[in-house]
Amino acid sequence: MSQTDTLHLIDHPLVAHKMTLLRRKESSTKTFRQLVNEIAALVAYEVLRDVPLHDVEIETPLETMTGRMIDGKKLVFVSILRAGTGILDGMLDVVPSARVGHIGLYRDPKTLVAVEYYFKMPGDLHERDVVIVDPMLATGNSAVAAVDRLKECGPKSIKFVCLLTCPEGVAAMREAHPDVPIYTAAVDRQLDEHGYILPGLGDAGDRIFGTK
Ligand code: URA
Repeated sequence: MSQTDTLHLIDHPLVAHKMTLLRRKESSTKTFRQLVNEIAALVAYEVLRDVPLHDVEIETPLETMTGRMIDGKKLVFVSILRAGTGILDGMLDVVPSARVGHIGLYRDPKTLVAVEYYFKMPGDLHERDVVIVDPMLATGNSAVAAVDRLKECGPKSIKFVCLLTCPEGVAAMREAHPDVPIYTAAVDRQLDEHGYILPGLGDAGDRIFGTK
């Protein structure tokens, strides 16, 4: 993994390979969804690399030993609807006991500004670490709005996970929330005039759900 500041680029060969398959326009809905799941699970390993552990005494069938387990209250994965759901499933495969929050934001097609229509989080958020997931960090409007809203709940920490971003999205997040690390599987060239990432992979939500 390489890291610049708050940006963590996960450059594992398996991730690069699966991202290339994901981007291809021929990939079917089934393939696309499966790949998003697989990449999300791989990304989860890096995102959770620094979670604190505590010692626990256990008994194996042979003797007593001290093992290590993740410390503190259960993590919270927050999915930005609707495309975040694809990543969420892959991350839950790796951390099945995580709590889940949802935030509904849509992009106003004219202004590209994020408008909130749903917000539901687990309790005790101030005692939990939050990982926000959305496949695309494009203009950054949704990501910034989601972090703004989550910060009102005062979680212990916030990380942001996407599969693909671009310089504009990274800059927007860094400007608004320099304290929030961004994890991504790739950084593409640029945004187009409609707020799509180039070369990108198209509309992630439509490709995950087969709605186009
Ligand atoms: N959202 C998408 O689904 N795709 C993009 O390229 C940008 C935002």
